[in-house]
Amino acid sequence: MKNSRSFISLVFLLIFSFGRIANAQSDAVIQLKADSILRLLTLEEKVHMLHAVSGFASGGVSRLGIPDMAMTDGPHGIRIDYVESTYFPTGVCLAATWNPALGHAYGAALGQEAAFRKKNVLLGPGINIIRSPLNGRNFEYMSEDPYLISRMAPQYIQGIQEQGVIACVKHFAANNQETKRTVINVEMSERALREIYLPGFKAAVTEGKANAVMGAYNKFRGEWASHNNYLLKHILKDEWHFKGVVISDWAAIHSTMQALWNGCDIEMGTNVGKNWGRSYMGDTVVALTKAGKVQEYVVDDKVRRILFVMLKAKMIGTTSNTGSANTKEHQQVSAKIAEEGMVLLKNENHLLPLPNTIKNIAVIGGIADRKLANGGGSSGVRPFYEITPLEGFKNIAGNATKVNYAMGYMVGNNKANDSLIQKAVNTAASADVAIVVAGWTHIQDNEGADKTDMNMPWGQNELINAVRKANPKTIVVLSGGSPLDIRQWKENVPAILQAWYPGMEGGNVLAKIIFGQINPSGKLPMTFPKALADCPAHVLGQYPGDSVNVYYNDDIYVGYRYFDTYKVAPQYAFGHGLSYTSFSYGNLQIKKNAVEFTITNNGRTAGAEVAQLYIKSGKSALPRPEKELKGFEKIFLKAGETKKVVISLSQEAFSYFNDLSNRWEIDPTANLVLIGSSSADIRLQGTIDFQNTGITEDRAKKKSK
Ligand code: BGC
Repeated sequence: MKNSRSFISLVFLLIFSFGRIANAQSDAVIQLKADSILRLLTLEEKVHMLHAVSGFASGGVSRLGIPDMAMTDGPHGIRIDYVESTYFPTGVCLAATWNPALGHAYGAALGQEAAFRKKNVLLGPGINIIRSPLNGRNFEYMSEDPYLISRMAPQYIQGIQEQGVIACVKHFAANNQETKRTVINVEMSERALREIYLPGFKAAVTEGKANAVMGAYNKFRGEWASHNNYLLKHILKDEWHFKGVVISDWAAIHSTMQALWNGCDIEMGTNVGKNWGRSYMGDTVVALTKAGKVQEYVVDDKVRRILFVMLKAKMIGTTSNTGSANTKEHQQVSAKIAEEGMVLLKNENHLLPLPNTIKNIAVIGGIADRKLANGGGSSGVRPFYEITPLEGFKNIAGNATKVNYAMGYMVGNNKANDSLIQKAVNTAASADVAIVVAGWTHIQDNEGADKTDMNMPWGQNELINAVRKANPKTIVVLSGGSPLDIRQWKENVPAILQAWYPGMEGGNVLAKIIFGQINPSGKLPMTFPKALADCPAHVLGQYPGDSVNVYYNDDIYVGYRYFDTYKVAPQYAFGHGLSYTSFSYGNLQIKKNAVEFTITNNGRTAGAEVAQLYIKSGKSALPRPEKELKGFEKIFLKAGETKKVVISLSQEAFSYFNDLSNRWEIDPTANLVLIGSSSADIRLQGTIDFQNTGITEDRAKKKSK
C-alpha cells in the first residue's frame, strides 16, 4: 500500500514538473480522485459499471453517489424516443460549412440540450470516412477527406464537452458501409488506415479531447472493432494516449475475454432482455476474476477510466450544467449551419437569387411538403417544429409573390406518376419560376442498409425534364446525404442547389437563399461523381465485398484523391460551391511555415469564400495522390473588400505514411502549394522550399505516433 501510494505521488510529481499540457495538472488530480473512489468499490460494483443497465445507460454505484451513465443519440439532436429536441442539420451539412466555429456552436447547443435531458453522454459525432455514395449513413458523417473532418470534429466535441456532457465519437473504425455491417471484415493497407481512415479520430481524441469513443460493429483485420486489440489498445490507448472510455456499439460485443483484454470499457446494447448481469461484461467477469482467470487490474483500468470521465463531466458529487432546450439561440445555430452549409452547385446566367418582385413561383415535389427529422435510424429526432421547403417559401416570399404547389412525384412510389407530372407541368407553365425539390429522404439515407444505386427515385428524372420543358427557369433543390446521378437533366436546368438535411429551420433558410436574403457559402465536403461506376470504392476497391470480407483496394484513393489522380471528371468537384458574388485571389507569398495571399470580393453583395490549400508532390518515393487538402479558411468579405489570408503549415502537411518503413515520413518532393476555390478550381500556385521553411524534419516525431 505504502509502495503504491509513493508510486502515485511520483507519477503526480512527474506530470507536474514536466507541465506539458495546460490540462495535465487537473487531469492528474482527477486521476487521483478516480483512484481514490476505485479503492472503495467491491468487485461486483466495479463490474456493474462495465455494462448496460438499461437500453441507454451503464451502471453506477448509488451507495457512493456514482450515478448511472445516461446516454443518448446523437449526432444531430437528442434521440427521438425522448421528448422534443432542436433538430440540427446533419453531419454532412455541418462539414459543408467549412466553418469550424460553427462546429463549436453546434456542439455547445447540442450539449446544452443533452444536459437539459439529463443525458451524460451524447453518441456523436459520427465521423466515418464517406467512401462510397451508397452508404446509408453518409448523411450523419462529414466528409471523404480526413483533413476537413480533423478540423470540424474537434470543435464539435469541445462544444459538447464544455457543457459537462461526454462526446462519444463514432464508429471506430472502418465502418464505411451499412451492408453487412455487423458481420463484415474490413481489410486495408496500413497506409490507407493511417492516411485516410484514422486522422479524424486522432484529431477527435488528441485535439478535441473526446472523453468517449464508440467501437464499430464490423471486424477489422479479423477482429471485432469493438474489441480490437490493434485499434483500441495499440493505436487509441497507447499511441494516442486516450484516457477516456471505449463504449461498444450496441450489441457489438462477441466475447468476454476479448472485450476485457482488447480495450473495450463499457458494453452496451447486448440482447439480454432485462437480465443485464448476463452481458458479456457482466456476472461472468466477476466469476472469472474470483476464479483467478482474469486479473482484477484489468477491470480496474476500465473502472478508473469510467470514473475519470465521470469526474471530468462533473457527474459525481457536483451538480452539472442544467442545460437548456429549444431556445431561440439553438434554433439560430441550427439555421446558421443550414445557411452556411447549403451548396449552390450551378447558377447559369445568374438566375438566382430571385427578385422579391417575382409574381408567381411553382414549388414542386413530394419532399417539398415533407418533414424529414424523424428518419434515418438511431439519429432520428423529434423536433419542436420543422419548416418544410414549401412552408419556407410561403414564409419568405414577399406579399406580391404567389406560391403554388404541385406534388410531382409521390415519396415511396417507385414509378413516375403521369398525372402528378402533368399537374406539375401545368403549375410550372403558369409560373415565373419552377422550383423542384427532389432527391432522397430517409427511405434511402438510413441506418442498417445502403442504397442500391445513385439514381433519382420515384420518377424524379422524368418530372424534372417535363417541368424544365414547361418552364426554362427551373431550379432543382437536392435533398439527401450524398450525391445522386443527375446526368439526365443536369445540362438542361439553369440552377441546382444541394440542401442536404438542413435541420428544423431548413425550409426558411432554403427560401432565403433562393430569394437572396442569404448568400450561399457552402462547399462540397465530398466529390459528386457523375455515376456510381466512376467511384473508386467501386472501380478499384471492393464494395460491399462478399459476405465475409471487403478489401479496400482503392487504398488511399478515396474521393478527390482518386478523381484527380486517375483523371476522372466528376460531376462536381470536392470543395465546389458557388456564391452570388465572385472572388479573386492574388498576392501569393510563401513564408516560413505559412502561405499568405489576398482574396477580394468583386461583386456588389457581401459573401464568404472558402479558400482551400492543397499540397502536390513531385516524384516521391511512393505514389501519392495528385494533391491533398492541408489547409483552408472561410473568409467573410463585404462587397469590394479585400482581406489577407494566412494559412500556416506544419510538418504534417508534407508527410505521408510510408508503408514500407511503416512510419510517417516527410516527402521532400511535396513542394507545390495550390490555392483554390475548389479542388478543381486552382487560382494560385507556388513552390514551397521545404528545407528553407521553419518546418524542420523531426525524426523523433516521424514515427507513426
Ligand atoms: C448505432 C449507433 C448508435 C447506437 C445506439 C447503433 O445501432 O450504430 O450509432 O449510437 O445504435 O442507438
